[in-house]
Amino acid sequence: MISDPIVIALTKGRILKETLPLLAAAGIEPLEDLSKSRKMIFDTTLKNVQLIVQRGVDVPTYVEFGAADVGISGKDMLLEHGSDDLYEPLDLKIAPCRLMTAGPVERSPQKGRIRVASKFVNVAKRYYASKGIQADVIKLYGGMELAPIMGLADQIVDIVDTGNTLKANGLEPYELIAPISSRLIVNKASMKTKHASIQHLIDQIAEAVQQRNPAQQQSNSTPPKYIFTQHTKSSNG
Ligand code: PRP
Repeated sequence: MISDPIVIALTKGRILKETLPLLAAAGIEPLEDLSKSRKMIFDTTLKNVQLIVQRGVDVPTYVEFGAADVGISGKDMLLEHGSDDLYEPLDLKIAPCRLMTAGPVERSPQKGRIRVASKFVNVAKRYYASKGIQADVIKLYGGMELAPIMGLADQIVDIVDTGNTLKANGLEPYELIAPISSRLIVNKASMKTKHASIQHLIDQIAEAVQQRNPAQQQSNSTPPKYIFTQHTKSSNG
């Protein structure tokens, strides 16, 4: 039972719709339609549980600093945020996609430093450093695929889902940096001080995830922070 006051930070946008049924399985439903309101904080069917709705990039910050006890955040945002001050107990298996390097189909030979455009600048810097490639990373906020076409960058680091955006712009995926999906995250202090309530919430949501993905085994362990693997193919948080 959830007996402590709990604030849950949700990522607005495409993953919100898939998040709500998981919360409903834990008896948590917003008292009004999130998509029809300009409000950012919502009461729920459990009187001590509130939902806040934020941009994905800000959710880890709210949870890290304890402004929210629990959050739902894309793994891409977590990798970029890079905090050790969060627990990540559950893969919600929502919005699966890949964080990849990509660039022109016709690769020009690599000569010295390369330029890389990304909104995931920390991930990009660490990835290229781990490969021993000298890269200048340029921060962009969207529409990454334009950068190689316009000569702003040699490569990009971005989310790839269907791969259609890359293809439509004459680009192709190069290497997988990490598989991405939405994760349940928990503030470390809240995990201690509100342990029974939060563990109950995790258990209920884990069961709902399991029911939705019966064929897959649910991982309860914290995955490695960075997964740098070679990949041949190619895809918000
Ligand atoms: C994301 C991502 C790619 C696209 C990938 O962009 O940045 O551009 O989706 O999807 P696909 O592989 O299915 O084509 P988003 O639509 O979130 O907008 P953004 O460019 O502003 O980040």
